[in-house]
Amino acid sequence: MDSEILLNVADYAKAAKAKLPSEVCDYFCGGALDEITLRENAVGWERLKLYYRVLAGVGARDLETIVLGQKISMPIMVAPTAFHRLACESGEIATARAAKNAGTLFILSSLSNTAMEEVFAAAGTPKWFQLYIYKDRSITRDLVQRAEAAGAEAIVLTVDAPGLGTRERDSRNSFRLPEGLTVENLAPVGKGTMPVVEGSGLAAYVHANFKSDLGFDDLDWLCGCTRLPVVVKGVCRGDDAQHSAELGAKAVVVSNHGGRQLDTAPATCEVLPHVVEAAGDRCEIYVDGGIRRGSDVLKAIALGARAVLVGRPILWGLAVGGEQGAANVLEILRRELDEAMLLSGCTTISDIDASLLRP
Ligand code: GLV
Repeated sequence: MDSEILLNVADYAKAAKAKLPSEVCDYFCGGALDEITLRENAVGWERLKLYYRVLAGVGARDLETIVLGQKISMPIMVAPTAFHRLACESGEIATARAAKNAGTLFILSSLSNTAMEEVFAAAGTPKWFQLYIYKDRSITRDLVQRAEAAGAEAIVLTVDAPGLGTRERDSRNSFRLPEGLTVENLAPVGKGTMPVVEGSGLAAYVHANFKSDLGFDDLDWLCGCTRLPVVVKGVCRGDDAQHSAELGAKAVVVSNHGGRQLDTAPATCEVLPHVVEAAGDRCEIYVDGGIRRGSDVLKAIALGARAVLVGRPILWGLAVGGEQGAANVLEILRRELDEAMLLSGCTTISDIDASLLRP
């Protein structure tokens, strides 16, 4: 890897696309249907303009923040994304180590290619586990119990995937995991492989296994069956965020699954202020989708998010340079956020306020 010329996340995206097999690249980079939400997520952050403060006497910046009581070195966490061994040999272990060294939080997808026990042994704290509700409740309960035993500190329940949004790139490629890779956490219960079908093997896997009539009763059940805080990921509306908090969710993630589920869902930056208004006094609010620059992070915080999650940029880093590549991407975002804070008059994260977007 010639890291000299990889200055930003877009450079990593380009280098990753040149390196990855095309069907893997399509899986990581693609979105649902016309990919309108996929594009809008990123464009939304670009469109927001920063009314920077001058003569603010900004000293050395302090990027630290706290999520669910845990200190992280910057308000940028690693989003749960599936199948990291498609990006590099050491897969989720590499990601966990990169997050640990960056002093931030790693959220492991239940659809990982490495067992959670192994990944969490390699990760420092904090580490959270992402969960899908399987049709078979005992499978779901077992995953939660394993995550607790393996040291997870929160359960992140994805609620925007009662089925898989159609990703036409994956349908065309008949996407599935190559020989030797499995949905490792589910292998012990016989759910480690994707059906061999025409079209997307992942879509068929989700259809066969995920609970499609997901309801608030499932969230209620989960909150009652774990001692860990529950984070609800995939929220697009204030009322859903409020209802989640009432049932016990300690945080929500404003997310449309990176534009991979319902196409034409609004960009997350448009949704965020509504969710903050409806539920910001009851739970923590994070956001993901299209974060590609440190200034995007600053904008998300100005809109009321406590932190952001980044998904694809980490995959691009992994694809380009394994653990070091993912670490580089995190450092790029940290450096850019630091610069955006300096140039907008913010010394600490709590100095970032709504007036930077609407003076
Ligand atoms: C898995 O969560 C995916 O979006 O492919």
